[in-house]
Amino acid sequence: MKGIILAGGKGTRLYPNTIAVSKQLLPIYDKPLIYYPLSVLLLANIKEILLISTPDDIGNYEKLLGDGSRIGVHIEYKVQDKPRGLADAFILGADFIGSDSVCLVLGDNVFYGQYFSTILSQARQQAEEYGAAIFGYPVKNPKEFGVVEFDENNRVISIEEKPKKPKSNYAVPGLYFYNNEVVDIAKSVKPSKRGEIEITSINNSYLEKGKLHVTLMGRGMAWLDTGSPKGMHKASGFVKTIQEMQGFYISCIEEIAWRRGYISTEQLKIIGEELKMTDYGKYIISLTEENQ
Ligand code: G1P
Repeated sequence: MKGIILAGGKGTRLYPNTIAVSKQLLPIYDKPLIYYPLSVLLLANIKEILLISTPDDIGNYEKLLGDGSRIGVHIEYKVQDKPRGLADAFILGADFIGSDSVCLVLGDNVFYGQYFSTILSQARQQAEEYGAAIFGYPVKNPKEFGVVEFDENNRVISIEEKPKKPKSNYAVPGLYFYNNEVVDIAKSVKPSKRGEIEITSINNSYLEKGKLHVTLMGRGMAWLDTGSPKGMHKASGFVKTIQEMQGFYISCIEEIAWRRGYISTEQLKIIGEELKMTDYGKYIISLTEENQ
């Protein structure tokens, strides 16, 4: 399975923060926002990754993440010259995806929770078997998201994009697993009223074919909002609190790569030394001292 991170957009809801800097490069506490969705792909055991961003920003992502070899993965880059909707990722990424299945994660989505790795590997398998796997997450403000509609037997009957009257409080987070059909579906999807090819149209297309699997995430999972300065501040506070309480870091991509065996302890040590002036670097060094 391949992975795509979509890190486009103007981030206008965060102006002036994002006038000169891409939103997904802003910090959530001690690391750039993009580390969080990248860690989701690493946890799903996806090592071939395409990062899509704007012509202005793509160079900064390359500067930050390079070709991925530092964390034992392969990262490619693709420019999206103007926003055409989330489903455009599969058109821009068609050559990269080839004949493989694919996971799309939005560059501003932060997840944290126990058993998340298990949830990810199940979704990956479901997409490979059924066609598509997405999630439903209970929120107080469903109007701002794609929303799942259920029938009386709790079967999913539709997904609505930013409905004025949401039919449930289950939002669809920005994490989607698809088989290879997604490329053709994306190419055939018509733009919505706002002129974008919506991920929700892709999901409905799978649903109509009986090939959409929706897993509801429970209250043990955190899906954090980064859509506003308040949301980013709260997410930073959440990460700080958990890290300080537990001593484990959230979305430390170097740690995940090391625990998954993508890089050796020696490689991890080199990264730790480079970053040793920060607590983040010190944490990495402390990992290399584990079991010694
Ligand atoms: C997008 C999707 C929406 C989804 C959300 C998750 O909305 O269109 O279906 O629920 O991401 O973050 P956006 O935040 O780009 O407006």
